[in-house]
Amino acid sequence: MKIALFAGDGIGPEIMDQARRVLDALNLPGLVVWEGDVGGAAYRRHGHPLPEETLEMARAADGVLFGAVGDPECDNLERHLRPEQAILGLRSNLGLFANLRPAKMFAGLENMSALRPEIARQIDVLIVRELNGDVYFGEKAMRTLDDGRRQGYDVMSYAEDEVRRIAHVAFRAAQGRKGMLCSVDKANVLETSQLWRDVVVETASDYPDVELTHMYIDNAAMQMVKDPGQFDVVVTGNLFGDILSDQASMCVGSIGLLASAALGERQTDFGTFGMYEPIHGSAPDIAGQGKANPMAMILSLAMLLRHSLGRENDAVRIERAVAKALEDGVLGGDLGGNAGTVEIGDAVLARM
Ligand code: IPM
Ligand code: MG
Repeated sequence: MKIALFAGDGIGPEIMDQARRVLDALNLPGLVVWEGDVGGAAYRRHGHPLPEETLEMARAADGVLFGAVGDPECDNLERHLRPEQAILGLRSNLGLFANLRPAKMFAGLENMSALRPEIARQIDVLIVRELNGDVYFGEKAMRTLDDGRRQGYDVMSYAEDEVRRIAHVAFRAAQGRKGMLCSVDKANVLETSQLWRDVVVETASDYPDVELTHMYIDNAAMQMVKDPGQFDVVVTGNLFGDILSDQASMCVGSIGLLASAALGERQTDFGTFGMYEPIHGSAPDIAGQGKANPMAMILSLAMLLRHSLGRENDAVRIERAVAKALEDGVLGGDLGGNAGTVEIGDAVLARM
């Protein structure tokens, strides 16, 4: 079993250290762990946010654990050299098109939600976000029009096979949950969304046991705070999924708790190759202070064990330990508590 760890920028290294401790505690036989550079840290060392050797390391691994990238000092670099390109480059080069972003209320945190506790308690949603297409990867540029005005543009598009493969992932996920799938688009305005909707409807005929609904993104954003309990699995495009998943994270209390998986088609000896990361960013304002909550990072490790290494029992063991720590009141600053990064790591280890 080969795992690559890419800690990245800001709080990435300190939260990755805690995930590493948890991984070491499992004592997996025959496990090989590599470390690679990404983001601003990689730019400083190699002149590029996603060096070739990092990409090769990812290709050779069964799974990648990714910390965070983003560094204010790099914000004025040309776009292709900015830290965010590491994550976009890994997603596209490795064909990681299916992003699973679960958001579930942890017992004891109902009062941390931005929503009223009785509404927050209902949240148990899996957002399946397409990750290789949409306006993120379409033609984009800045140009000067004939009359001298500057214009920026980004082309939004989806081809039918791109929609179909993510739809299959979402339908199958719904089959393993409550059997409800809500496809989110903007088909009242966008052609891209009309095709999305048509293909999702076509794909539905393979899954008669799943109840399919459709929602426009603006309404979905509203419903996510009005009545999030109505959602089981949500499938949506890259841009809408980016926004909706941050929103869902606030409904459960903190973005510091949410893990994600980016999966492709490649099978490893133990499962599906994937990259796993907290959905929060590099939080440069608190980097290096030992304050960051490593729980989302640790929960990302659990997802890696489940999907890429076929170790469901270890994944559950970690998830239970995190849930128990929260229940016992081990709260990071993001949850109004004062437990530090290492302390939270200790608390999770103790409960494993
Ligand atoms: C995410 C992030 C990324 C995205 C950024 C860092 C490029 O916001 O994973 O949600 O937009 O996909
Ligand atoms: Mg995002």
